[in-house]
Amino acid sequence: MTTRIAVIGATGYTALELLKILARHPDAEVIIATSRLEDKLSIQDVHPALTNSFDIPLTQLDVETIGSEVDFVFSCLPHAASANTVRDLMRGGVKVVDFSADYRLNDVAVYEKWYGVEHPDRERLGSVPYGLPELFRDDIRDANLVANPGCYPTSAILALTPLLQEKLISHRDIIVNSMSGVSGAGRNTNAAFQYCMANESVKAYGVGTHRHAPEISQYCTSAAGEICEVLFTPHLVPMHRGIFTTCYVRPSEGVSASDAMSALRDAYREEQFVRVVNHPVETKNVANTNYCDLAVFENGDRLVVVSAIDNLIKGAAGAAVQNFNLMCGYEEATALL
Ligand SMILES: NC(=O)c1ccc[n+]([C@@H]2O[C@H](COP(=O)([O-])OP(=O)(O)OC[C@H]3O[C@@H](n4cnc5c(N)ncnc54)[C@H](OP(=O)(O)O)[C@@H]3O)[C@@H](O)[C@H]2O)c1
Repeated sequence: MTTRIAVIGATGYTALELLKILARHPDAEVIIATSRLEDKLSIQDVHPALTNSFDIPLTQLDVETIGSEVDFVFSCLPHAASANTVRDLMRGGVKVVDFSADYRLNDVAVYEKWYGVEHPDRERLGSVPYGLPELFRDDIRDANLVANPGCYPTSAILALTPLLQEKLISHRDIIVNSMSGVSGAGRNTNAAFQYCMANESVKAYGVGTHRHAPEISQYCTSAAGEICEVLFTPHLVPMHRGIFTTCYVRPSEGVSASDAMSALRDAYREEQFVRVVNHPVETKNVANTNYCDLAVFENGDRLVVVSAIDNLIKGAAGAAVQNFNLMCGYEEATALL
């Protein structure tokens, strides 16, 4: 059965990738696409890549119209703006995948400290499944609202969770260094992420303050069953898309890289989108796909776990469609392979 869909914040980068995927989904019909600023245009005017895929006008967001006309909403809005809208949409009975960070953290105080705003829908925090199907598939299937994970957290949490769950690595002293292409900051970005500033340059940013740090810590802590100390540092690299993450961890007594690789292979054996690979992990191997590639190496007394994803696909739109498929009873990989 076809599901009628609204995409809100449809002019953004993640929305474009989402719409490309939905264009080839046999059971998805996008009937509403919203924009605050471009509501005189059609979706093809803003995203010419969608020419001949979608021929719908961009409209102002109207919660009542969405509630009466669609079954499912993808919210591609920034944090706070998203929860403000999602809260009202949920009253209308639609199902929602939220791309923003608004429902990812369980603790209101942690959210408000790191995001610097009052949470618009405090009561829901802690009860919304985290949209990483590889780890939370059953919860996602039954949910009306799913919190799509952050891009950096996806790359780190998929790399670390099985190793923490199996106690193959220490929950202490985990270092996560990530590199992202500029599309990670979205379309309405600040000057630091624009071509002239970012090209031919690499820099660390948000050191000690990046909002994905508490998200990574929260899910590593729940995997380990003990409070995880994770030191997270993101870097901006001159690429359009892609995330490469290097995790430095302390192995438990006698655990080798090959043991850790075997544990990752066991954990993800049935997964279609997580690949534990023997060849070098590289962003170009996962670009424009919903795959996450993983590998483990030894370096001195540490294990080094590396992962690569496309931030806009496995880190956003691809995961969102995986969640949509689960929530609507479609085969999980529909439109994603
Ligand atoms: N980029 C990534 O790699 C990535 C990965 C994972 C998750 N996310 C999350 O996904 C969401 C969308 O990200 P994106 O990269 O697609 O962002 P984006 O390119 O900046 O698009 C967001 C869209 O939301 C609309 N919008 C509505 N209300 C807004 C407001 N109050 N402030 C700013 N924009 C508003 C804007 O469209 P109009 O101006 O036309 O209304 C804008 O085009 C964000 O929550 C982001 O954190 C992004």
